[in-house]
Amino acid sequence: MTDARAIHLADYQPFSHLIEHVALTFHLSPNATRVQARLAVRPNPAREQGLDLRLDGEGLRLVRLAVDGRELTVQPDETGLTIRAADLPDTAFVLETEVEIAPEGNTALEGLYMSRGMYCTQCEAEGFRKITFYPDRPDVMARFRVRVNGDHPVLLSNGNLVDQGPGWTEWDDPWPKPAYLFALVAGDLRAHSATFRTLSGRDVALNIWVRPGDEGRCAYAMDSLIRSMKWDEQVYGREYDLDIFNIVAVDDFNMGAMENKGLNIFNSKFVLASPETATDDDFARIEAIIAHEYFHNWTGNRITCRDWFQLCLKEGLTVYRDQQFTGDMRSHAVKRIEDVLMLRARQFREDQGPLSHAVRPESYVEINNFYTATIYEKGAEVIGMLRRLVGDDGYARALDLYFDRHDGQAATIEDWLCVFQDATGRDMTQFKRWYSEAGTPRLKVSDDFNNDTYTLHFEQENPATPGQPVKGAKVLPIAVGLLNPNGDEVLPTTVLEMTHMRQSFAFEGLATRPVASVLRGFSAPVVLERAVSAEERAFLLAHDTDPFNKWEAGRALAKDLLARMVTEGAAIGPGWLEAMARVAQDGSLDPAFRALCLRLPSEDDMAQTQHAAGHVPDPAGIYAGRRRMGDALARRLAPDLPGLIASLAEPGPFTPDARAAGRRALRLAALSLLSRVDGGTAARAAYRAADNMTEEVGALSCLLDIGQGAEELARFEARWRSDRNVMDKWFALQIAYAAPDRAAEVTQTLTQHPDFDWKNPNRFRSVIGALSGHHAGFHHSSGAGYALVAEWLLRLDPLNPQTAARMSTAFDTWPRYDADRQAMVREALQRMLATDGLSRDLTEMAVRMLGD
Ligand code: PHE
Ligand code: ZN
Repeated sequence: MTDARAIHLADYQPFSHLIEHVALTFHLSPNATRVQARLAVRPNPAREQGLDLRLDGEGLRLVRLAVDGRELTVQPDETGLTIRAADLPDTAFVLETEVEIAPEGNTALEGLYMSRGMYCTQCEAEGFRKITFYPDRPDVMARFRVRVNGDHPVLLSNGNLVDQGPGWTEWDDPWPKPAYLFALVAGDLRAHSATFRTLSGRDVALNIWVRPGDEGRCAYAMDSLIRSMKWDEQVYGREYDLDIFNIVAVDDFNMGAMENKGLNIFNSKFVLASPETATDDDFARIEAIIAHEYFHNWTGNRITCRDWFQLCLKEGLTVYRDQQFTGDMRSHAVKRIEDVLMLRARQFREDQGPLSHAVRPESYVEINNFYTATIYEKGAEVIGMLRRLVGDDGYARALDLYFDRHDGQAATIEDWLCVFQDATGRDMTQFKRWYSEAGTPRLKVSDDFNNDTYTLHFEQENPATPGQPVKGAKVLPIAVGLLNPNGDEVLPTTVLEMTHMRQSFAFEGLATRPVASVLRGFSAPVVLERAVSAEERAFLLAHDTDPFNKWEAGRALAKDLLARMVTEGAAIGPGWLEAMARVAQDGSLDPAFRALCLRLPSEDDMAQTQHAAGHVPDPAGIYAGRRRMGDALARRLAPDLPGLIASLAEPGPFTPDARAAGRRALRLAALSLLSRVDGGTAARAAYRAADNMTEEVGALSCLLDIGQGAEELARFEARWRSDRNVMDKWFALQIAYAAPDRAAEVTQTLTQHPDFDWKNPNRFRSVIGALSGHHAGFHHSSGAGYALVAEWLLRLDPLNPQTAARMSTAFDTWPRYDADRQAMVREALQRMLATDGLSRDLTEMAVRMLGD
C-alpha cells in the first residue's frame, strides 16, 4: 500500500539522543492526572551531533518544560514536540516536563486508563506517548524510577518496591527498558501471593492482584506461573531477575495480556479460574498465556526489538517457547495438532487473502494492526523449522549465544539469524526468505517405485501476495517416514531438506512399495498437495506412528468427503464412518487425541480449502454438508456412545490437568453426537448434573446444537448474571449455535440486552466476534451478517480503534466468495472509508482489504 503516513523499515535510524535515566512522578486523578518526568539525556554518539530532540506525545496538556532547570516555551503539535538543538547543551542534560492527562475519558484502553475504578496502563506498542513526552520507540532503553501518589490502597509499577508511605509508593527498575514495557496500576486490589526460589537461591515474591472477591480464583494462574519459572530455568537456563513479580487482572483490556517488566497486566479472563467458572480450554489458555508473558522477561524484555518491524523477534520466539512449555506440561501430540489447527484457521487464512504480509513486514501505517497470526504463529513456525534444520543441540547453542550476546540490547532478525550462523556454521541467507516473503508455500508431492527404490518428488510453489509478485525457493524441512504395507515402519522419521523449487529424494533397498508419511509433525508451514486415495488415508490413520500425521490422515478423509458432498453431491460412504468408529473405540489412544479426531473440519477451513482448489465456496452448502456428516457419524456410533460416555466418567472432584480434561473432551464429543439421536435427553441430564463449567457449557452446547436448551439458557443466565467472564460465554454460545439465517437476528437481539456493555472489549468480542465467527451466519446470502458487523465496528471505532481494526479482519476472506457477497463486503468496506473521522487503524485495514 502506498500511504504518505507509512513507516518503512528501510528508513530506520538510531535515535538522536540516549536516555540514561527516567524519574516519573504520578499524581493520580480521574480527570487531571499530573505526570512529572525527569529525563537524564545525552547526545547519541552513534548519530551526528547537534540534532534537535523530538519527543512523541499525544493528547497531553503540557504544563511545564525545562532543560537543566531553565524553563522553555515549546508548542507541542499533534504528535509530539521538538526542542531545537539551539536550546540544548551539547553534552549531558536534564529534561523536565510536567503534563496533565485524563485517564477517565480514555476509552481506547491505550496509555493510562481506568477500568471499573482502577487505574492501569497499556503502552505496547505506542501508548507511552499518551502518558508523557518521550522518545516512544523500543531502541531507546532507560532505567526507570517511578513514584505513584494516589488514593487507592494498592499502587504498583515496574521493578522493585523501594519505598512507600501513606498514599504513595516508589519503584525502581534496575534493568534498562523501552517505554512500551512501562506499567502502572492503582486500585483496591487483593493479592494471591506465593514465593519462588530461583535456581541461584534468591527468593522472589509473587503476587496476583485481583478485585476483592476474586482471590479464590487465582490458584491455577499462580501454579502456572511457578511452573513457567521453573521450566525456563531448566530448559533455557533463564532465571528471573527482580525481587518481585506482580500480575494484575483487569476487566477492560484490548488483548490477552502484556509482559510489562515485573508487572504483567492481564485480561482478567486469562487469570481468573475456578472449576465452577472456567472450562478446560480456559485453564489451558491461562497456563499458556501466563507462561507466554513470563517468558517475555527474557525474550522481549532483557532482549527487546530494535524497532517494530522486528516484532516477531520477541513474539515468534515467545510463542515458540510457550508452545514447547505446553507440550511438556500436557501432550506434545495434542498440542501440535491444536497449534496447526489454529495456524491454518488464522494464519493460512490471513496469508491467502489481502492482508497477507511477511513475518517481518517492511512497512506499516499503524503498528497495532500487525499483532497478527503471521507475526505470532508463523513467527513461531519459522523457529520450529530452524530447530529442525540445526537440531536440538544447534538450537540450544544458538539460544545460549543469543542471550549472551544480546542481553540488554534492542536486536534485529539479522542478529537472531547471525547467532544461528555463528553457533552452527550454517549459512542463513536462503532461510531468511521466511522472514521477508509472505504467503504460504504449496508443496506438491508425487512418488514412484522402481526395483527396490522409492522416490519422493517435491515441487514448491510460492504464491504471489500483495506487493510481492515473485519469490525464491524456500528452505523446507520435510519430515518423512515410510511404512510397510503391513503397517510396520521401515524408515523412521527423517528430515529431508528441500532448498530448490523441485527436488527428489530416493530411498533404496526396499522390498515392497512403501506408504509414505510426509510432513510429519507438520514440519513446515505449507499446504501439501498430494493425491492420496481414501484407502491410503485410512491406512495412515490406522498405522502411522507420527501422531500428527495420524490425525491429519483422518482429517483429510473428512475434508475430501465433505468437499465431494458439497461440489458433487456425493453420499457419505462407509469408509470415513468406519475409520472414525475405529478411532472412537480405540482405548489405546489418548482420549484428547480421539476427541480431536472426532472434531469435524470447520466451515471456514473448508471454505479456505475449496477456494485454494479453485472452487467458489458456498457457505450454506458447507454448513448443510457438515451437519449431515455429524448426523451420519452420530447414527453410526449411536450404539456405542452411552458406553463410551459412561467409561469416561471422572470419579472424584474436578481437576484441570490434561488427562482429566482429555477425558472430558472425548465424553462431551460423544455427548454431542448422542444428542443428535436421543433428542437431548442425555445432555439435559448432564446439564443438571454438571458441577464444573466445562460440563455445564458442554451440555448446554449439545442442546443448542439441536435447537433446544432455552430453559437451560435461562437458568445459566440467572445463575451467572453477575459474573462477567462467564456471561461472555452465555452471549457467545447463543450466536455460535444459531441457525445461519437467524444468526444476525439473534446477535441483534443480544445487543439490546442490558448487559451488552459494548465498550468492554471482551463483551464486544463475545457478541460481535461470535457473529463474525459463525461462518454460514456471517456470510449469509441476505447480507445481514455483514451489515451488522460493519455497523458495530463503525460504532466502536471512535472509542476503541485498536479493537475495531483487529475485528475488521472478519472481512478479509471476501475474495473467496461469489460476486454478490463480494459486492456486499466491498460496499461495507467502502462505507467505512467514507465515514468522517475514521481511525488510522481501521482506515489502514479497510484499504488493505479492498486492495489496490
Ligand atoms: N505483547 C503482548 C503479548 O504478546 C501482546 C500485546 C500487544 C498486548 C499490544 C497489548 C498490546 O503478550
Ligand atoms: Zn507476546
